[in-house]
Amino acid sequence: MLDQYFTGEKAEVRIGDQVFYLPIIQGTEGERAIDIRKLRSETGYITMDSGYMNTGACRSSITFLDGEKSILNYRGYAIEDLAEHCSFIEVAYLLINGMLPNIVELKQFSRQLNNHSMIHEDMVHFFDRFPPGASPMSILSSMVNTLCNFYPEMTDPLESFNITAARLLSKLRTVAAFSYRKSKGHPLTYPRHNLSYCANFLNMMFDSPVNPYLVDNVLVGALNKLLILHGDHELNCSTATVRIVGSARTNLYASISAGISALWGPLHGGANQEVMEMLEKIHREGGNYRKYIEKAKDPKDPFRLVGFGHRVYKNHDPRCRIIKKTCDEVLAALNMADDPLLAIAKELEEVALHDPYFIERNLYPNVDFYSGIIYRAMGIPTNMFTVMFALGRLPGWIAHWREMWDDPNTRIGRPRQVYVGPQLRPFVPIDQR
Ligand code: SDX
Repeated sequence: MLDQYFTGEKAEVRIGDQVFYLPIIQGTEGERAIDIRKLRSETGYITMDSGYMNTGACRSSITFLDGEKSILNYRGYAIEDLAEHCSFIEVAYLLINGMLPNIVELKQFSRQLNNHSMIHEDMVHFFDRFPPGASPMSILSSMVNTLCNFYPEMTDPLESFNITAARLLSKLRTVAAFSYRKSKGHPLTYPRHNLSYCANFLNMMFDSPVNPYLVDNVLVGALNKLLILHGDHELNCSTATVRIVGSARTNLYASISAGISALWGPLHGGANQEVMEMLEKIHREGGNYRKYIEKAKDPKDPFRLVGFGHRVYKNHDPRCRIIKKTCDEVLAALNMADDPLLAIAKELEEVALHDPYFIERNLYPNVDFYSGIIYRAMGIPTNMFTVMFALGRLPGWIAHWREMWDDPNTRIGRPRQVYVGPQLRPFVPIDQR
């Protein structure tokens, strides 16, 4: 079915003495693609693209990013404007619904999130059954999957979509804070309706019966920015996971749980935790960051400069610029401007950006390079940094799941392969092996 995105141009594929023609599509920001949906049926060939570096899996209206021009827009709005002027909940509404809410819509959305901020008390007892030191990402992924047992009305996923989205956005924040409190052996602080999304999270994390938490608006503002900047990033590994799991008509809870598991990886969302561990290691060893630059450049050494490099950004990650500026503001406000880890991070960036190895490979600091320094300044432990990434990415995952469900072109995700194993051979009974 040809539609307005087909340009009328054709790509020619010449195989032997045969020529095949494949339609070309162009997106609203000028991205162009060769539509190969008929390639195998017409030529018998498939394409090979491990890591999907050159393969578009869908059309999407949610996020546009240009890795060469350092552009990141959510639903057409520049990330710089959203981070500067919006709350995280406003941007979550935009990502999921496709437009920024007006005051009435925002109030209704906030009220809906408040109405679904608690988790079933039976779920609270689950925390007592995780062993001490359980990974917060494992807890988050398990608890999200369990939610569908407490809210089984996912029979019609689209009819209950809005309430399920609100439950996920609000309850994941509660689960994250509860898992931290339980890990410290502290009593739980429940969400409060009179606090904003981010203030509620910080209060649930750090309030104490003996020393009430004073919500710091600098930290609330910084947390809103961090969560906005993690809101969506087109078809990154975890979002592609949510889409492919959802393409089997899997419910939203289980699809999000799969996305959390993909984000856990140290090459993906787990990098913010690895950056902090790398900076702390360099600090413990006396600050010799140049040793790690050389390790990263050594082809025989598997070490990579965590927080550097990106599949798409071959120029600065626009999110990193905003996070770095926020980092300076937050640490100055907290009288931590001389944080040694921030100083090491800035030295590492300065040296790497002038080193031919990094320049030739277009390696720049990414979203994970400075974010952990802010989370640490808030008092959030390193093993919860990737949980924070998941809280931010959640509206993006939800938006992509819904877009995939609504798209008439969606088919169950099932890539092909080229088999390189043994050819057919006679069976050998076990007594002859
Ligand atoms: C996120 O996709 C997204 O949008 C992800 C994300 C999002 O918002 O969802 O932006 C979030 O995951 C950010 C990335 C966080 N990960 C890290 O910081 C881990 C360190 N970075 C890398 O491992 C790497 O850069 C990736 C995984 C991010 C990208 O890997 P690619 O695109 O597969 O690139 P590659 O591994 O093929 O590297 C190309 C070259 C190689 O050198 P050569 O073999 O050509 O000699 O660059 C080198 C790599 O060795 N390289 C690095 C490096 N990253 C790439 N060398 C040293 N240090 C690094 N960090």
